[in-house]
Amino acid sequence: MTGYLLVLSGPNLSSLGSRDPAVYGSATLDEIVATTTAAAAGHGLGVRHVQSNHEGELIDAIEHREPGCVGVVANLGAFTHTSVALHDALQIVSCPVVEVHLSNPAAREPFRHVSAIAPVVAGSIAGFGPLSYVLAVEALARLAST
Ligand code: DQA
Repeated sequence: MTGYLLVLSGPNLSSLGSRDPAVYGSATLDEIVATTTAAAAGHGLGVRHVQSNHEGELIDAIEHREPGCVGVVANLGAFTHTSVALHDALQIVSCPVVEVHLSNPAAREPFRHVSAIAPVVAGSIAGFGPLSYVLAVEALARLAST
């Protein structure tokens, strides 16, 4: 398989490792991206990772994806729950998008129970820590090969 997965990390995910480890675990974002990259390489796929604390930069990353993009792994952090603009950006993407969370937002505060992007993603994987990313890669690799 050729192509790459666009991995998006939203606000505050750059603080993983020290950010509320009881909820998010101890892995840093670099470690999670390395694990995700290894999982993708197992399917012959590359990874391009963009982390931003700014909604517009994440929209730019989606808009400027290259034709080789065969899937999107989207952990948009708190923007998941609020961003109509990211919903609209992902709606335009023709390749499948998987919404990913380290924690399980459905088991947390009520404001995390809503996902603005849920209507425009192929599916969601939440609550498994870094394994959520590996499972998202598995799903996207299968979708890309069918
Ligand atoms: C998160 C869950 C969100 O509710 C939160 O705002 C985050 C991280 C997760 O990966 O569990 O920043 O997306």
